[in-house]
Amino acid sequence: MAAKNPFKPTAGARPPVLIGRDDMRQDFAESIENGPGAPGLLSIFTGPRGIGKTVMLGEIEDEAIEHGWIVISETATAGLVDRIGSGVRAAAEELGDGPGGRRVTGVTLGIVRVDTQLPAAREVHWRRQITELLEKLSEQDTGLLISIDEIHAVDRTELSEIAAVVQHLIRESLPIGLVLAGLPKSVEDLLNEGVSTFLRRAEKYDLHRTSIDEVAEAFRDTFSESGVNISDEHLRQLAEATGGYPFLIQLVGYHVWSQARKSGAVVTDEALAAGVQKARRRMGATVLQSAYSALSDVDQSYLLAMAEDDGPSSTTTIAERLGVNAVYGGQYRLRLLAAGVIETTSRGYVDFAVPTFREFLRDTPAYGLRLQHPKH
Ligand SMILES: Nc1ncnc2c1ncn2[C@@H]1O[C@H](COP(=O)(O)OP(=O)(O)O)[C@@H](O)[C@H]1O
Ligand SMILES: [Mg+2]
Repeated sequence: MAAKNPFKPTAGARPPVLIGRDDMRQDFAESIENGPGAPGLLSIFTGPRGIGKTVMLGEIEDEAIEHGWIVISETATAGLVDRIGSGVRAAAEELGDGPGGRRVTGVTLGIVRVDTQLPAAREVHWRRQITELLEKLSEQDTGLLISIDEIHAVDRTELSEIAAVVQHLIRESLPIGLVLAGLPKSVEDLLNEGVSTFLRRAEKYDLHRTSIDEVAEAFRDTFSESGVNISDEHLRQLAEATGGYPFLIQLVGYHVWSQARKSGAVVTDEALAAGVQKARRRMGATVLQSAYSALSDVDQSYLLAMAEDDGPSSTTTIAERLGVNAVYGGQYRLRLLAAGVIETTSRGYVDFAVPTFREFLRDTPAYGLRLQHPKH
């Protein structure tokens, strides 16, 4: 019997079963096969924290590697262009000069980390270098994928430089792919700011929670393959406790699996209850606490006012509860949308982007205080 917990409740970690994302990987595979200019070669994945953006980029990278492509995997922190430039040089060196150069297939250069203080002059040439690299790859019938995570934090100048180069390469019919991931509202703002009109043409995938049925199916496979027994009824309850939200799927799976191991490799009522409770506590202590503490006091009070509702909140009602006018209320709302903490459910209504946030807020001391001292 396998003793290792198969669930992966860690940011960016590959889950034992990737739920509900087959279509997206398939789209990308088709685009690679269709070659330069295919729509999926320029894609942007958006969604709240913990929805699976980093994992999705990993899937796309794998698909590229399986097709023999070279991958440069990056995060949008300072020095991004320099690092991509270095990645291109490293790939060109790997490939070697001249026709006798070694044929490179399927390598990832994500681990290439170089000094970002490189002299600017060296970087000036990256456009020429990447063009040469792609011409060579094109002859070998492969290509280059650049993936950039967390683009909500990107330096606008760096992104527009990258976009300009990629646009040029596509125009030259060279085999280049660019896939990006970030928080929805921030990415939308980024695209609307005119950083690059070219990027606005990208295929957009807004990642959502997965269906509860699919979660139950995935749990069934993972539990049985790892030698833990679980009844259909418990599978259902477990899947429902996740709200279909990927990070919680891994947390709930992990903690219930771990409890079950202690009770003879069977998911009992007690194991399930204890595991779910632990998962929720971890969820609060990690994703929710860090998302919450990163917000200003006024933004926090907006969330606390939302937590008073059992479902989606009317933005008009929230403004009233906070004692502010609709314009102010609208500004808080936009900031929270950009931070990926809330989402618009229907016109004039917002809800938490991540499950269990409401319960987490109701448990904070500040929630009680606001009720005792309403601002109006
Ligand atoms: N499609 C999926 N099915 C099941 N679990 C997933 C899926 N996508 C991501 N996860 C899990 O969710 C968690 C968050 O994934 P991550 O890619 O880091 O999210 P994001 O980058 O959007 O914050 C990880 O523990 C990961 O294993
Ligand atoms: Mg991520």
